[in-house]
Amino acid sequence: MGPLTLAFDVYGTLIDTHGVMTTLENLVGTKAAAFSQTWRDKQLEYSFRRGLMQHYESFAVCTSDALDYTCAVLKASLDKDQKSELLALYRVLPAFQDVAGGLTRLKAENHRIFAFSNGSAEAVETLLKNAGIRDFFDGVVSAEDLKSFKPNPAVYCHFLRKSGAAGNEAWLISGNPFDVIGAISAGMKGAWIKRSEEAVFDPWGVPPTITADNLLDLADKLAFNG
Ligand code: 2OP
Repeated sequence: MGPLTLAFDVYGTLIDTHGVMTTLENLVGTKAAAFSQTWRDKQLEYSFRRGLMQHYESFAVCTSDALDYTCAVLKASLDKDQKSELLALYRVLPAFQDVAGGLTRLKAENHRIFAFSNGSAEAVETLLKNAGIRDFFDGVVSAEDLKSFKPNPAVYCHFLRKSGAAGNEAWLISGNPFDVIGAISAGMKGAWIKRSEEAVFDPWGVPPTITADNLLDLADKLAFNG
């Protein structure tokens, strides 16, 4: 297997979006788990809707609007400062435990490694630097360049252009099934990082090229399937 081009999704793949739980528990108590999940689900929904409406606002705006929605629907009365605290935390979320070790393995195999996200290049650079993993990446590609969002096929084509990769040797690596299906439908290969036992892959008849439990397992499986 020659060197591959690996496009890593960021939120929910490299970076744990539930990394705000401790603060949420202090702010909303037993509602924290529901709050975190509702916030994430609505953030993605807003990106899908804005993409389809062709009414772009940044992923940071989707995140902020989703926070306001979550406060309203869960009747969590957070003030402006508390919301600002949560949004500031979102810019410095932690990496999953397996990420540094997995990227070290993949770098040693001479693969080209990119971060590829709906988030702005600036937001992704901040996240990767804060998580201490920026140096693993050959580059950062953001959907913001197109004023659109995943899974718009144009966004995956944009990644291929920016990375200079051909579709059949380029892999999208994501914990988000919508992203894996979107990438495969656009001609890339797709690895699903199944980060929890309960996670379900959408029954669309477009299975992942490979499924891995974490980035170390991914390195093992790419060695045989890449
Ligand atoms: C991303 O990082 C939203 O997880 C998705 O683009």
